[in-house]
Amino acid sequence: MNHVARSSRLSGFHKKPVSERIQEVVDFVGLAEADRSLLLNTGNLPQDLGNHLIENMIGTMNIPVGIATNMKVDGRDVLIPMATEESSVVAAVCNAARQCYDNGGFFTSMSGMLMIAQIQLVDAPDPEHARIRILERIDEIRAICDECDPILIKLGGGFRELEVRIIESRSGRMVVTHIIVDTRDAMGANAVNTMAEKLAPSIAAWTGGRTYLRILSNLADRRLARARCVWRVEDIGGAEVRDGMMLAYHFAEADPYRAATHNKGVMNGISAVVLATGNDTRAVESGAHAYAARKGRYSSLTNWEVTREGNLAGVLELPMAVGLVGGATKAHPMAQLALKILGVTSAAQLAGIVTAVGLAQNFAALRVLATTGVQKGHMALHSHNIAMMAGAVGDEVEALAKILVALGKVRVDVAEAELKKLRAAL
Ligand code: MEV
Repeated sequence: MNHVARSSRLSGFHKKPVSERIQEVVDFVGLAEADRSLLLNTGNLPQDLGNHLIENMIGTMNIPVGIATNMKVDGRDVLIPMATEESSVVAAVCNAARQCYDNGGFFTSMSGMLMIAQIQLVDAPDPEHARIRILERIDEIRAICDECDPILIKLGGGFRELEVRIIESRSGRMVVTHIIVDTRDAMGANAVNTMAEKLAPSIAAWTGGRTYLRILSNLADRRLARARCVWRVEDIGGAEVRDGMMLAYHFAEADPYRAATHNKGVMNGISAVVLATGNDTRAVESGAHAYAARKGRYSSLTNWEVTREGNLAGVLELPMAVGLVGGATKAHPMAQLALKILGVTSAAQLAGIVTAVGLAQNFAALRVLATTGVQKGHMALHSHNIAMMAGAVGDEVEALAKILVALGKVRVDVAEAELKKLRAAL
């Protein structure tokens, strides 16, 4: 590749057709014809569609979609598409779900479907008074908000509640208005952001202050999804395994360093379903982590208990702003197919399933960590990647992966040497 110093100021790049953009990148970097072909192969997202989803589109990035089997959610058997690049994530959910299937699987519920948008007001001379004056205007606020989205109102959504908080900040006291809106089957970012922007000038006028930020909060704690499940002690390998899992949970509950990894495992499951359905992974992730720190210290998102019968009861509750309409969910053919496979008819149902997968993922991680450790299973799956990195193709991949696992050395250098031996033996 010839990385000759060139300017990255590609004027008019965003206005060009995709083919011309690709050409510019090819020229800039000195890419080969094969690279161009890779960019032109957009998989199951037509190029034109991708080009309308984001700016400056030149290609797509395909991620494998796997199906989590064995899942029973709210009494319904459901196949769950998961988009993830991480080996063992799908298998973990399948295993966890198998171990609770006969005991009824997962049960889910929602606290509501309400999104919050914030309007930041500064320089109000009398913040306490200003707060009350805003609260008094609830009927006008409702009217301003509901006018923004007649379709949402028709679907039974719209403005629901008003909250006004006073925040002490380094720039002084801020009066922060929360409009709380039922966004039905939409994630709702567009709806609430439009309302916040429309409402802000009135808030400024009523209070004599100045409004700045007008944007949703990803800490969607009026839209909590909950999943619960009980694993019978005999189905998970006995009391010793259960007690080891409780120790692992208590570790995460007490220590943010462990909680971050524990919750990363939860999000392995959650983000995979959120992505497969074309929803906003970052919105759900930021909401989850903010919620995990809501008590002032970052902690476990899940909660585990031993029931009177000695079984293991798990709970997961977290903000779950996912929708069935709008954005990539509606536009991406694969997201539509994922929703079809899931057979969901409401955003609440989808949120419940996503949360059940998060709980399953956490169960699987705790179980493996409290018993064999992750490396054994992980390396068995990872060995395929290493085999391919070493140049194995077709049937060689499986054969070489097995050799690496048997040797207990899942490394590229070993794989290369073993591949040579394998080929020589043929
Ligand atoms: C790896 O992606 C996820 C785990 O680290 C989660 C955990 O430690 O609980 C296995």
